[in-house]
Amino acid sequence: MTDLKNQMKNQTANHVTGRATKRAGVMGWPVDHSLSPRVHGYWLKTYGIDGQYDRLPVTPEDFPARLRALGADGFVGCNVTVPHKEAALACVDEAHPLAKRIGAVNTVVVRGDGSLYGFNTDGFGFLENLSQGHKGFSASRGPAVVLGAGGAARAIVAALLDAGAPEVRVLNRTLERAAALAVDLLGIGAGLLTVENWTSRADALSGAALLVNTTTLGMQGKAALDLDLSDLPEDALVNDIVYAPLQTPLLAQARARGNPVVDGLGMLLHQARPGFEAWFGKMPEVTDDLRSYVLAGD
Ligand code: ATR
Repeated sequence: MTDLKNQMKNQTANHVTGRATKRAGVMGWPVDHSLSPRVHGYWLKTYGIDGQYDRLPVTPEDFPARLRALGADGFVGCNVTVPHKEAALACVDEAHPLAKRIGAVNTVVVRGDGSLYGFNTDGFGFLENLSQGHKGFSASRGPAVVLGAGGAARAIVAALLDAGAPEVRVLNRTLERAAALAVDLLGIGAGLLTVENWTSRADALSGAALLVNTTTLGMQGKAALDLDLSDLPEDALVNDIVYAPLQTPLLAQARARGNPVVDGLGMLLHQARPGFEAWFGKMPEVTDDLRSYVLAGD
């Protein structure tokens, strides 16, 4: 049966029962490799919720119109992924203040009056992953070193400052990009936000309580991150937001010298929770079973 026929059948059934299958999805280009449908599909099934979550391939050219038409197309909201996160901020009727500061929206809700509300859950996902992966984690424990200055780094730096980090040191290959990040995030929290040269990355680890890699280095098919960890305190927590592979060369290197480590898969899983709650009415949990299910692939 075609998708359209299925939809019509569902709508007819819903009309009779007075119930509507809630629909959400992820807009991206390309979006074939997104793990979000697997994550939301798992939760819908686990919690017995009458909902649907689909991959929504949308070109950059079509994106604004498709996002604006979400409600009319029968959706309660959607996730937004590469390359649409910045465009989404410009398209929504209202955005959460932190999403504005970060410059990107990854979750959109269609409100009762049909208007679109956008927020960014990457920072939430990042912090929740560390809290779940390392008992007793607190952003306020000490200085954090963040490598990279892309979209993920923006969300992470904002979240760390917002959660009380006393200092965040940002290092990026392209210094100007790190400087722009610092200007945009100035004034969040009471902590110090500093930008340092990429070549100083080994020295910047001195006295750090947390090291986070947000660059693509260490990802499958990319070079490993070249970083001397000698100056990193042994009790500093090390996190890589790269999750393919799960054990990046950085995490292996940190683990070998005794540092506690948290891998990046949890950030992807936790960032999905607020959207699921907003659309389907249940704050879902990240469990070992969900991790195994997502890692098993299609
Ligand atoms: P995202 O939005 O997911 O964070 P991104 O915007 O593509 O992704 O950012 C990728 C990050 O990896 C950037 O900080 C990038 O550094 P530049 O701003 O200098 O491009 C970093 N990166 C990618 N390849 C790198 C390399 N070979 N050496 C150092 N940093 C690299």
